[in-house]
Amino acid sequence: MKPHVVITHPIHSEVIENELKPHARVTLARNRIELLSALRDADGLITLLSDPVNEEILSKAPRLKAVANYAVGINNIDLEACRKRGIRVTNTPKVLTRATAELNLALLLAAARRVPEGETLCRSGQFKGWAPDMLLGLELKGRRAVLVGKGRIGQETARLFQGIGLKVSWITRKDTEKTVRKKLAGAQVLSLHVPLTPETRHWLNAERLSCLPRDSIVLNTTRGPVVDEKALIECLRARRIFAAGLDVFENEPHIPPALRELPNVVLLPHLGSATEETRRAMARLAVSGVLGLLGGKRPWNEVKSKASHG
Ligand code: DGY
Repeated sequence: MKPHVVITHPIHSEVIENELKPHARVTLARNRIELLSALRDADGLITLLSDPVNEEILSKAPRLKAVANYAVGINNIDLEACRKRGIRVTNTPKVLTRATAELNLALLLAAARRVPEGETLCRSGQFKGWAPDMLLGLELKGRRAVLVGKGRIGQETARLFQGIGLKVSWITRKDTEKTVRKKLAGAQVLSLHVPLTPETRHWLNAERLSCLPRDSIVLNTTRGPVVDEKALIECLRARRIFAAGLDVFENEPHIPPALRELPNVVLLPHLGSATEETRRAMARLAVSGVLGLLGGKRPWNEVKSKASHG
């Protein structure tokens, strides 16, 4: 008999039709009620990063053996609760590295050259002609970028940054707080690439933000809660840094009005992995992950620990 796999979103229909349905009975659970009902006899589950997989959900899924997260970040999954129940987990590493690094670069260029402000000027009909002092930005060549987190996405971002002439250095887990602050003081670009864990929640807090130079640009494409959003808003509002480029938010999808009103921030709706190629590859990896686990195999993308990211 085919295993029963529940999906919480119609991810890539072609991949579901051709690669999952021949091997599994598939239920699309479009809301919480449907999910709780479908989980009663589910063997596998494919989740989005916005689907919590916690004790409460798992307690409704007595047969569940496999969870495939359609994301590299796994902060939505209680790994310990899964482990206790013998449920194995996969994620989607590698396939989204380039797309996310490219989006990070897009945020940097947009923030440095004030692209959203320029676009707003054009769209609103306020552009009255070229002017020598209009929307002056920052040239990036030769600036110092500090990257936090040396996983795949961090490293790919570093290569792209170096390609446009930035000087790259890193903050790693081994750095003492004193060293972190010293590095922050030189960070004309600060780019975050750590997974969200209890240790990295609010990693960029008010104290650390206050170390950054005035011409600094902060970039976040990882998870919103890695930054203390309130503190960042204050910092941007007071123009203590030049700008920020954010693809993720502390309470997604909510973006505080105070942040939306600021001109010196570029805002994107969590688009890091949003390319045709990458989303298809993520769907394939989620499907092969859930089927592999259910078939008793050991998929290469099985999550072993919280550190597995990017
Ligand atoms: C991930 O995979 O964790 C990304 O945030 C999705 O784009």
